[in-house]
Amino acid sequence: MAIQITPSLLNADFANLAGEAARIPTADWLHMDVMDNHFVPNLTLGAPVIEALSKAAQQPIDAHLMIADPDRWAPAFAEAGAGSITFHVEAAAAPVRLAREIRAQGARASMALKPATPIEPYAGVLPELDMVLVMTVEPGFGGQKFLDLCLPKIRRTRELIAASGGEVWLQVDGGVSVETIERCAEAGADTFVAGSAVFGADDPGSMVETLRDLATS
Ligand code: DX5
Ligand code: ZN
Repeated sequence: MAIQITPSLLNADFANLAGEAARIPTADWLHMDVMDNHFVPNLTLGAPVIEALSKAAQQPIDAHLMIADPDRWAPAFAEAGAGSITFHVEAAAAPVRLAREIRAQGARASMALKPATPIEPYAGVLPELDMVLVMTVEPGFGGQKFLDLCLPKIRRTRELIAASGGEVWLQVDGGVSVETIERCAEAGADTFVAGSAVFGADDPGSMVETLRDLATS
């Protein structure tokens, strides 16, 4: 299982996103948090910003859509150049159709679960997916405290992925730091989003490597 570190730019300098990406050259992906003030009580950025950053940065973009009606909007993020697109299953009208559309556009298809959303009802969707995102905070803001209550769901999701036989990555997002990343890795996560832990560090680039080492050990 390859470990991937995917810093969130939510707490980076929005006036200099390309420069912020250049501070984390070994990051596997750039995690971009799209919020619409409907699905979550916060408003951030849309496809034009992702298009600009995908041209300016070396790393591929992992777009996390915290928006209502992802069925309508997700394809625009593939067109904008995102390499991976995560929609929330709580917001999607037709997750299977949506995952197929994302893949047909050449992007990786990923489905996110809020902390109170179980994975079991969606086990049948796993063969349609390239990644599952288990949120470890309520989506909407950076810098929140990691929710330990999500650990059993990480474990269960890893079991269901193994049973499905597919190559599905398991991402965690929210409160991931030097304090919590080992617990997530031990539970079965392989793809780690970290926002404040990386961009709150004196040296974001070396924090990426510290997190990778902790997740790997
Ligand atoms: C929260 C976002 C996260 C956020 C993580 O809703 O989805 O990606 O940026 O920030 P930290 O790592 O500070 O919890
Ligand atoms: Zn996110």
